[in-house]
Amino acid sequence: MSDDRDASFTALLEYVEDELAFATSHYNDSYLDRRISSRMRRTQTDTYDEYFDLLCEDADEQEALLDSMSINVTGFFRNPDVWAGIREVLRSLSAATDTVRIWSAACADGREPYSLSMLAHADPGIDEAGVTILGTDISTPALETARSGVYEESRTVDLDDQLDFLDDYREYVDVDGRRYEIGTEVKQNVRLERHDLINDEPKSGFDLVVCRNLFIYIDNAYKEPMLRTISRSLRPEGYLVIGKAETIPPNLKSAFSVRDARLRIYQRESADAEGEASTGRVDTSSGF
Ligand SMILES: C[S@@+](CC[C@H](N)C(=O)[O-])C[C@H]1O[C@@H](n2cnc3c(N)ncnc32)[C@H](O)[C@@H]1O
Repeated sequence: MSDDRDASFTALLEYVEDELAFATSHYNDSYLDRRISSRMRRTQTDTYDEYFDLLCEDADEQEALLDSMSINVTGFFRNPDVWAGIREVLRSLSAATDTVRIWSAACADGREPYSLSMLAHADPGIDEAGVTILGTDISTPALETARSGVYEESRTVDLDDQLDFLDDYREYVDVDGRRYEIGTEVKQNVRLERHDLINDEPKSGFDLVVCRNLFIYIDNAYKEPMLRTISRSLRPEGYLVIGKAETIPPNLKSAFSVRDARLRIYQRESADAEGEASTGRVDTSSGF
């Protein structure tokens, strides 16, 4: 970017952060630039300055930009090969302990925690009665959809294909035309709450944390504190699954051993690199 262009881009981001209350500083510039450039094409504005002027005076465009910046792409059983790995982790946890506590962090509209719950119900090697899943996200609208447990098929979203990972997903999902509603027994294992991985406190005592496809959008300065929050939330030897295109920041590598490098499945070391005492205490405030 030229200096002028750079200054205009920075001014635009400051406006979005200060006036529209979206924390642009948490995300990397290339991600933000892609979202803004896409809105510029839609609004036929050629420069950041021109788009900035439009944004200041048009409330609809403010809403459209905020909508496009929220990273909410998700799916049931996203990356099925990873889910085959998660199934193995759940089987081994279920064989070793009566209660398996899972945190689906940054769970978007709930399809990830519901995939975990359906898998627990469907697999005879996993005792679903002992499985509890906490789904959290920073986005309140995403959590509202998650709580409803209702998803609509569209031209671009093939729910039947996503759910095909299970032999017979219709045991767990009520399908009415294009409307897919998660069954009560699957919802019973899942609790949902708002949690910001950058600003909120860690949790504790989880056997498995699944936090996928968020770090790719996050500014490098925030990746490490986020991963630290997650690491502290795991009990010693608890499992971590991150996105297939994501990596553990160098300073935290020694806190985890690699279980499956390709599928990005890790296990927390008993005494992690920060030398923190690992109590494995269960945080009862989560309700599980
Ligand atoms: C691309 S989705 C990933 C959803 C799901 N984990 C998956 O892989 O399909 C990223 C999610 O991260 C959430 N998010 C963004 N910043 C966050 C933060 N600071 N704390 C918690 N969640 C955040 C977004 O609201 C969005 O729902």
